Amino acid sequence: MNRREIFAGTLAMPAMAQPQTSTVSPMTAPNKKARAKDAVALITGSNRGVGRGFVEALLARGARRVYATSRNPKYFDELRALDPKRVVPLELDVTNDAQRRAVAAECKDVTWLINNAAYPGSETETERRFRSASNLDDIKRSMDTNCWSPAELARLFIPIILANGGGMIANILSGGALFCLPEFSSYSCSKAAEMMMTAGLRAETDREPILVVSVFTGGVQTRALPVGATVSHTPLDHANEVIDGVEQGKTTLFPATGPVTMRDRICQDPEGFERRVIDRFYTSPVRIAPYE
Ligand SMILES: NC(=O)c1ccc[n+]([C@@H]2O[C@H](COP(=O)([O-])OP(=O)(O)OC[C@H]3O[C@@H](n4cnc5c(N)ncnc54)[C@H](OP(=O)(O)O)[C@@H]3O)[C@@H](O)[C@H]2O)c1
Repeated sequence: MNRREIFAGTLAMPAMAQPQTSTVSPMTAPNKKARAKDAVALITGSNRGVGRGFVEALLARGARRVYATSRNPKYFDELRALDPKRVVPLELDVTNDAQRRAVAAECKDVTWLINNAAYPGSETETERRFRSASNLDDIKRSMDTNCWSPAELARLFIPIILANGGGMIANILSGGALFCLPEFSSYSCSKAAEMMMTAGLRAETDREPILVVSVFTGGVQTRALPVGATVSHTPLDHANEVIDGVEQGKTTLFPATGPVTMRDRICQDPEGFERRVIDRFYTSPVRIAPYE
């Protein structure tokens, strides 16, 4: 069996595994939606980029309160200035367990959790790869920031969201979860793990009023965009598209068109797609600007 057949077989599995007679009553069927109006949202990494877009979009769409978290308090004044009555800036390094527990203890009214913060991997590119890295420390940091930390936050906030009558968790993934971008192997690995973690959470909360959403982000104008890439999608456009999807009860979102086109190309010809990615790695590797 070649990889294309394996992939097609995997896609067919859920349909084959479905029970003949559903035991799910219409009342408990997974038909969930979450409204931005009056939501109380907590966003990680909200000081810039995609996270900041969510703060602005949620304020414009009538959220009751936005906990705009950042690991660096130097951004608090500018975040608070967006709407001093509704924006509550809080310090949160997502990898810091004490800070995670402190925000969960303080933010008891949360109904939306947006796990946005992410680490792209070391600025030293060889440390982002499995063979050339001097050790796996940086790769473990990617896993910790991009997969285990959002999982820990979800575990802390699920009971809070349920106590508030239900709501939504969105994990901001990446087109890089769908294939290995060898220039950023550790990032792809962590985002693929986060993709599965999100699917697991969705299954576990299926019979409860929490919508768990996988967001395959790509092509948004932020500092994380590859050098030379030109895209028209702003963080605010991205946030509004995601919120539109959430309000329609969608669980898998491809805001902007990049990652969905990529997924279709992978499905059509997985080996050909990987060959092109590997060739580009040797001839014209993807780079991002130096971190601030
Ligand atoms: N832009 C795109 O086209 C694109 C494509 C694919 C996926 N994404 C995803 O979109 C999300 C946001 O990325 P972005 O494009 O907005 O990049 P960005 O501008 O680099 O923002 C990343 C954010 O994550 C924060 N962060 C990193 N490590 C953190 C930690 N340990 N604790 C708390 N915050 C931390 C950063 O804080 P500092 O400012 O303190 O560093 C920053 O606020 C990420 O999940 C990324 O993987 C974006």
